[in-house]
Amino acid sequence: MKPIQLFDPASSTYTYVLFDQATRDALIIDPVDEQIERDLATLREYGLQLVWAVETHAHADHITSAGKLAELAGAKTAAPVGCGIGTAGVQLQHGDILRFGGQTLRALHTPGHTAGSMSFVWQTPEGGHVFTGDTLLINGCGRTDFQSGSAHDLYRSLTEVLFALPDATTVWPGHDYQGRTHSSIGQEKAGNARVAGKTEAEFVAIMDALGLPKPRRIDEAVPANLTSGIRHDADGALLMQPRPAAGVHAGSYAGDVSPQLAWQWVQSGEAVLVDVRTDAEREWVGFVPGAVPAAWKQWPGMALNPQFDDAVRQAAADGQKLVLLCRSGVRSIAAAKRATELGLLAYNILEGFEGDPDAGAQRGHQGGWRHHGLPWRQN
Ligand SMILES: [Fe+2]
Repeated sequence: MKPIQLFDPASSTYTYVLFDQATRDALIIDPVDEQIERDLATLREYGLQLVWAVETHAHADHITSAGKLAELAGAKTAAPVGCGIGTAGVQLQHGDILRFGGQTLRALHTPGHTAGSMSFVWQTPEGGHVFTGDTLLINGCGRTDFQSGSAHDLYRSLTEVLFALPDATTVWPGHDYQGRTHSSIGQEKAGNARVAGKTEAEFVAIMDALGLPKPRRIDEAVPANLTSGIRHDADGALLMQPRPAAGVHAGSYAGDVSPQLAWQWVQSGEAVLVDVRTDAEREWVGFVPGAVPAAWKQWPGMALNPQFDDAVRQAAADGQKLVLLCRSGVRSIAAAKRATELGLLAYNILEGFEGDPDAGAQRGHQGGWRHHGLPWRQN
């Protein structure tokens, strides 16, 4: 069994999908925001159910899609406890095990690139695999000059933790800038230009002399990654104009609107509010009076709701535009795309009903329909 290795050319990041061949339960390591459609397609193609979305650290060069994968694919999120990713459902400690089907992934704390960085070991009958993030790269290693990095810590993580794994263990790095895909512990122990045969002092001197430029996306990526990549770029500003769907979503639905604008449209009769959350969410978390329920996915299993198409067609029967509401503004994008395919004029409501999770993983405190004081009720 081998991991599926996926590559993001913009950041030279490798994402890995591991799965249990019998149960089809899968785990993804270091997913990249811009590649979410590719990753969802990969899961569909292999017939996989995503159980975990895991980070090796809080990345500075790309934004994770872990939060979106949790919404769209039902994955649970896990991240190293020392990385400050407060939204991750499981805060991993050294030695912790994540299970997917009959398979296990073991977390190793390998600080140095960042203080919280981890590597992950997957033992299969054919041999061991280690996913090293930015700790160990092929013939290299991650930088240690920002984000709580330490060359001393990295030396010990490389020589005492990773090089203590069997030589035959396959090394799957977080990046490669030269098209190399994997290596082995034995190969890196013998030939890694930064660390092989070097003393700690020699290694630290090499790292101190690198003089690398600041990562291009650090100011944007690190804060976003501390909330599993879920962010909204309205800056909390009142957005009273619709904004066309942009980036990877360009043209696939009518655009994004703030909760306030959506409510204004509903009050004036221009738009119909469609709540695409599950029946259970409306029942337990609260609902908007007058909204049309049309669940995008249904609990349990979060399978696509076969009645969705009919429900949105009916909601738009009088020719109004649709404004789609979910929990935090992720599922409503997928639903708006589908409604657009059906020929309807569909907008995504930013922030959803509950807004983003805050640093304590609590929703409802920063943004969202309720937070903005718009009408809602609880059963
Ligand atoms: Fe990194």
